[in-house]
Amino acid sequence: MARATYRICTLPGDGIGPEIMAEGKKVLAAVGTRANVDFVCEDHLIGGAAIDATEGTEHPTALPKETLLAARASDAVLLAAVGGPKWTNTDADKPRPEQGLLAIRKGLGLYLNLRPVRMFDALRDASPLRPELLEGVDLVIVRELTGGLYFGEHRRERDVEGAGVGGGKGGFASDTMEYSEYEVDRVVRWAFEAARRRRGVVHSVDKANVLETSRMWREITHAIAAEYPDVRAEDLYVDNAAMQLVANPAQFDVIVTENTFGDILSDEASMLTGSLGMLASASLGSGTALYEPSHGSAPDIAGKGIANPLAQILSVELMLRHSFQMDDEADWIVSAVRSALDDGWRTADIADDATPADHVLGTVAMGDKVVEYL
Ligand code: IPM
Ligand code: MG
Repeated sequence: MARATYRICTLPGDGIGPEIMAEGKKVLAAVGTRANVDFVCEDHLIGGAAIDATEGTEHPTALPKETLLAARASDAVLLAAVGGPKWTNTDADKPRPEQGLLAIRKGLGLYLNLRPVRMFDALRDASPLRPELLEGVDLVIVRELTGGLYFGEHRRERDVEGAGVGGGKGGFASDTMEYSEYEVDRVVRWAFEAARRRRGVVHSVDKANVLETSRMWREITHAIAAEYPDVRAEDLYVDNAAMQLVANPAQFDVIVTENTFGDILSDEASMLTGSLGMLASASLGSGTALYEPSHGSAPDIAGKGIANPLAQILSVELMLRHSFQMDDEADWIVSAVRSALDDGWRTADIADDATPADHVLGTVAMGDKVVEYL
């Protein structure tokens, strides 16, 4: 049989991005060797790195056109992280790294973001929650990714000096939460399909007691739920969902929600696993899919070689599963990560007082460990 070749557009980005990307690639290459598949990775610019590279040109940007075209032409996109204090500014005319991320999500039509919260038994003590609360936790957040507040109109009116109420405080800002019915329908439907293949429960999270977008969301969800009598559907207000996630996380199977709620709840849910450094994500849609850790670029530890590469490595796992239907190979990665953790290997973020100093690994050493266990 001819050896399969997959072309991956790799986007290391900023901060710890390049460090963890190297480990993701290392694991991918090791899987390729074992599975007799060629993964050809090609790096492109995004985020602050892209802003720096295009500075002084006519269009300084966090997402150069070449990057978007390369991403579209690839079989999958693997991204690490974007952002950092160097590029933080409130000047609306200046590009910001996060715009690169939002633009590539939009540009690739990635309307759905999957964030599986997978527990590793060995990390039970790393979570701030009591271990008995974590019994049976296995949930996935399905986050709408190209609508809502993120992509609605953003407006700002600066105060004319001294003209405002209360001594120059007359400025104004607004962000608009917007949803079309089809945008809601496609993610909610996907969530019900996923629940069918899992434990058959969907929690739809909204704020229907206040927001019109949520009332529409709820109507659509109820209509879809009627088509899936085998799936148990529950509505939850987002504030209640935030509380339930720490009070009784094991009740959840599939959580489906809009963009901003999903952003917030997924950071919260990551702590069930012990660290934001463990949470991978898959962004899916009509075209090429994109895989990235749920965490950011962690500028405070960038360049120190101590970042946890596991969310990046588990993003590779999701890529094998969702883009290449390589479920067995994806399982190898999960097993390798599990074995490394079971044998006590930790990065600093998931280590505790009981971890022997010689078992606290840096980024590269943790990547090597996973490859060793593959
Ligand atoms: C995420 C991140 C991004 C988001 C930021 C970096 C724009 O927090 O992927 O969750 O809010 O979507
Ligand atoms: Mg986030």
